[in-house]
Amino acid sequence: MDAKVESQIQKAKNLLTSGDVVAFPTETVYGIGANVFDISAIKKVFEVKKRPQENPLIAHISSPEMLTTLVTEVSPMNQILIDSFWPGPLSIVFPKRPEVPSIVTAGLDTIVVRFPAHPIAQALITECGFPLAAPSVNPSGKPSSTHQQHVIDYFQEKIFVIEGNFSDIGLESTVISTLDGTPTILRQGAITKEELEHVLGQEVMIAKHTEDAKTTSPGMKFKHYSPRAPIEVIPLSKTEEIDQTIRDKAFDHLSNGKKVGALVSQETRFSLPPQVVSFSLGPRNNFSTISARLYDGLHGFDLTDVDIILVESFPEEGLGATIMDRIQRAAQKH
Ligand code: TXA
Ligand code: MG
Repeated sequence: MDAKVESQIQKAKNLLTSGDVVAFPTETVYGIGANVFDISAIKKVFEVKKRPQENPLIAHISSPEMLTTLVTEVSPMNQILIDSFWPGPLSIVFPKRPEVPSIVTAGLDTIVVRFPAHPIAQALITECGFPLAAPSVNPSGKPSSTHQQHVIDYFQEKIFVIEGNFSDIGLESTVISTLDGTPTILRQGAITKEELEHVLGQEVMIAKHTEDAKTTSPGMKFKHYSPRAPIEVIPLSKTEEIDQTIRDKAFDHLSNGKKVGALVSQETRFSLPPQVVSFSLGPRNNFSTISARLYDGLHGFDLTDVDIILVESFPEEGLGATIMDRIQRAAQKH
């Protein structure tokens, strides 16, 4: 780590130790961290993000020992998940210790824990010596930040941010619960259903999220990832080429006097008329590049005056399923 980052970590540690909040990079998205055990610092996290109090936070650790300060038990199935995916983009539900303030978990008797792989995140948590509760850095409902500039665009100088440039993965961690014996994905993320099934040797369910889904991940019932302009998702079609469909849609909107944005593969981008404000997600079949660029694209359209954003669909296999989950949520109207 270079000297600039070292000194930013020291500054962040001082702020966190004295009860403030700090933004820092992880391999999924940037987090806004606070000491898990400091109730007034946790309150600041909810305030800054305008996050509903009933949406619990993920605790971030940098060693297996830290886990024992948060949870009462690690089941054999959770141990397999830890051994297979930590450090990394998997967040696991555990029974919580009573010492963890209930504001962190929104009153639940469970806590979600993640051990991030990013060296800056790890160094920061280790320096602090306490776990950091850290949701994504964005006003509630907006796309998560995958670069320090997104944090600055959202919050100006109000939040100190450690600079890590682009997050490698660009989508939030997968949240999984095995507590009732059936492994269930509460939030799709960077670790896929297929990868989880491979290590667990059994089928993994994906929770359906409804407005009153108390048993699943509380956060998923809230509006998410939405830029200012409405999104129109262009479905994959067997009979037509998707680039042709998007091109036709773009011409329709343009002829109605609209300013059109498009978040599309590089292949589709080539076929769009020049009046369209387009952002390339990279090659159509490269899901890791698409996921790394998705939020930068969504975020970028908030800095333009487009009236509508056309978004390409991708096959829902592996990481493609998570990409489509986020695109569909961004398109939801509330
Ligand atoms: O990749 C990530 O997970 C990022 C980075 C910063 O680590 N963090 C993140 O946090 O996405 P956040 O707060 O934006 O999302 C946390 C999700 C929400 O959907 C929340 O409802 C769910 O985890 N969650 C937290 N605690 C839970 C619990 N005890 N039971 C079920 N779901 C929980
Ligand atoms: Mg979030």
